[in-house]
Amino acid sequence: MKVDGRPFRSLWLEPDGWSVGAIDQRRLPHEFVVVRIDNVESAADAIRFMLVRGAPLIGATAAYGVALAMRSDVSDAALDRACELLIATRPTAINLKWALEEMQRVLRPRLPAARVETAYARAAEIADEDVAINRGIGRHGLALIEAIAAAKRPGEPVNLLTHCNAGWLATVDWGTATAPIYLAHDRGIRVHVWVDETRPRNQGASLTAWELGHHGVAHTVIADNTGGHLMQHGLVDLVITGTDRVTANGDVCNKIGTYLKALAAQDNRVPFYVALPSPTIDFSISDGLREIPIEQRAAEEVATMTGRTADGRIEVVRVVPEGSPVANYAFDVTPARLVTALITERGVLKPERAALAGAFPERVVDR
Ligand code: MRU
Repeated sequence: MKVDGRPFRSLWLEPDGWSVGAIDQRRLPHEFVVVRIDNVESAADAIRFMLVRGAPLIGATAAYGVALAMRSDVSDAALDRACELLIATRPTAINLKWALEEMQRVLRPRLPAARVETAYARAAEIADEDVAINRGIGRHGLALIEAIAAAKRPGEPVNLLTHCNAGWLATVDWGTATAPIYLAHDRGIRVHVWVDETRPRNQGASLTAWELGHHGVAHTVIADNTGGHLMQHGLVDLVITGTDRVTANGDVCNKIGTYLKALAAQDNRVPFYVALPSPTIDFSISDGLREIPIEQRAAEEVATMTGRTADGRIEVVRVVPEGSPVANYAFDVTPARLVTALITERGVLKPERAALAGAFPERVVDR
């Protein structure tokens, strides 16, 4: 997508042909800062400390992390070490495990002399595939938005609600939840997006609002607890969120607070869609509540907020009393029964095992 008219992906190979560029997402929306990742440790740190985040982007970054590791040591032991380092960075998004398995699948059989080239080639493919997948999601999701737009009075916008950032910043390009929105906007359909701020890290307020604004998409940032009220008053036509992991039977793990939006959507008969690329499906598990590890993050993320002061300084302020205990669960699970449908690159699917397995038979694993 474009930043100030200049096309950007969220991750790219630098002109030197080996190091990797990324946008430091911790600095948005106040500063647009690009970082260079030049070894596997920096790739792991970029994921762990959330310079890059969002399930598909974490996967693509890890793939390049393996390529960087191969550049300094092509041995099996170095491959093992790189994968162990990277897999330990964040537990919930399954794209990380998927990308590391992909890298090992292509690298293990290769002679050491061919490993660097193979690693960079597969990492580049993973990045390009993500872009193509998201365009596919966009096309299928567009049909849903078009159907709602067709039933509206002329000039009336389609109101969507989204949570966290499942935009182009969370992927290599286009985003998952945002791909249908960008396509609809580009086709001249009037869309308006309610953007959940998404405490504690505010990925909605700082990232989704930033990227929608740069693309010219009408949007309004709301406090996290606002969605239910909006739905009760007919101000939300559909919800589209992203996801960090979908089980074989369609349970959806996503940023904390997603479940509450799904409950409110069901109570108000608002369709609740989840957009996902196929690498986000974990066919090895069927019970999202019990089997998906939920990342618990530092208390500071809840206890503090970061923002820009009137004179332009970026400051961190405490919003919780000193000494009050804080819990920081980063994700929750929305049971499949609350999900209207899953928007994938192969179509809009029921959140059911048969539908997912039928659309992605090559990914199904026996338990
Ligand atoms: O903790 P984050 O910012 O990595 O969480 C991101 C999300 O929850 C996204 O909604 C999800 O990864 C889908 S991104 C296309």
